[in-house]
Amino acid sequence: MAGGVTGGSAEGWSNRFEEGLHPVIERFNASISFDITLLQEDLDGSIAHARMLGECGVISLEEATQLEGGLEKIRSEAAAGEFQPGIVDEDIHFAVERRLIALLGPVGKKLHTGRSRNDQVGTDLRLWLRRRLDDLDCELERFQHALLAQAESHRQTLIPGYTHLQRAQPLCLAHHLLAYVEMIQRDRDRLKDVRGRVNISPLGSAALAGTSVPIDRQNTAAALGFECIYANSLDAVSDRDFAVEYTAAASLVMVHLSRLAEEVIFWASEEFAFVRLSDRCATGSSLMPQKKNPDVPELVRGKCGRVFGHLQGLLTMIKGLPLAYNKDFQEDKEALFDAVRTTKDCVEAMSILMEQGLEFCSERLAAAVESDFSNATDVADYLVAKGVPFREAYQLVGAVVKRCLEEGILLCDLSLEQWQEFHSAIAEDLHEALAPKRVVAVRISEGGTGFDRVEEQLRHWRSRLGSGLS
Ligand code: ARG
Repeated sequence: MAGGVTGGSAEGWSNRFEEGLHPVIERFNASISFDITLLQEDLDGSIAHARMLGECGVISLEEATQLEGGLEKIRSEAAAGEFQPGIVDEDIHFAVERRLIALLGPVGKKLHTGRSRNDQVGTDLRLWLRRRLDDLDCELERFQHALLAQAESHRQTLIPGYTHLQRAQPLCLAHHLLAYVEMIQRDRDRLKDVRGRVNISPLGSAALAGTSVPIDRQNTAAALGFECIYANSLDAVSDRDFAVEYTAAASLVMVHLSRLAEEVIFWASEEFAFVRLSDRCATGSSLMPQKKNPDVPELVRGKCGRVFGHLQGLLTMIKGLPLAYNKDFQEDKEALFDAVRTTKDCVEAMSILMEQGLEFCSERLAAAVESDFSNATDVADYLVAKGVPFREAYQLVGAVVKRCLEEGILLCDLSLEQWQEFHSAIAEDLHEALAPKRVVAVRISEGGTGFDRVEEQLRHWRSRLGSGLS
């Protein structure tokens, strides 16, 4: 083993150590099995640091170039599957440094000048998350496109609208789907806001107090694309708010996905039969040959537990920690990595479900809105237009519904004479006012489900999201 880099055995740590770690503790302490994920970012951060050391005259420019060459060599070794650190390396930072020293000899030992693993790990994690935030934004945009495409092909399709999961008022299906486009936009905005607080450089804060080495933090921050640097070195190495913020924002993404997932699950049931699942996104039963199961939305719904759990885990891990770095922070990675992977996978799966996994059964939906009392409010509104006070009209329609229920008929089955027994202002035109398409069409208040309003919203989203082909 190359001397001078800590990790694994007594010869590695500084000279105050006489004995190596107990093998169980060595394994317990190591994070390499999961922080290998940060390899690219660790190399990027180290290259920026090495160049800066050269530019500031802390090391020679020649040495900086050598360090950069060594770090790039490690990158290509990793790409070829030849860089395989083990438990003895403890973590990704030591693994890279050790390999660098093996490659370059004494010059390799200069890389860690003016830096600590504490600011290094914070830098790596932020660079990693920043990239993942950009990936997630692309996935969310794709999901919005998928929802919008479905909405555009259902601008005239009706669907029962519910409150308390009881039939309430019919809706334009496009309107229902656009509600999710709105939620996802809020998620994107929130994640963008989180990105701003991820994009701050802790590098150069060293262990906790800064350094006496004449480094230039602005230099590395700019090279790594950070917006600015942390003003306080203690805050810099002990801030994990960004991990909590990401996981909280991702939890809301999962909440939104799970709500649509739940709707798809019951829409696909025989009781509703509002959608047919395509073979691409459904599975069968090992025993019951007739079954077609909505595994994709069920898994999305189920995976919420992971992301919400990681949010709780991170909050609990950080709570009560004294300044500055504490090893507890090592526990942030698996939580964050899994939250990032799960959220992205779920958004992607839901996009595919929307794009090619389900088909709305328009006839079944049309029949559904014909066969209920969801036009009752419209009778009340009709009477209001004839000068009847709303509350009086509401009571009156309640009595009509009661009578229909007793007779097993719908509002549209009552004759004009029967209607007039309830109120003399009722005329021939009521019938027309009760047709589901009409009921939807008249809801033209801003944000309402009226077809004209929905067309406006479709146009708005089409131009906001663009063609979706880029
Ligand atoms: N593996 C550590 C982590 O994930 C890196 C930082 C270690 N720093 C230290 N002072 N022990 O947080």
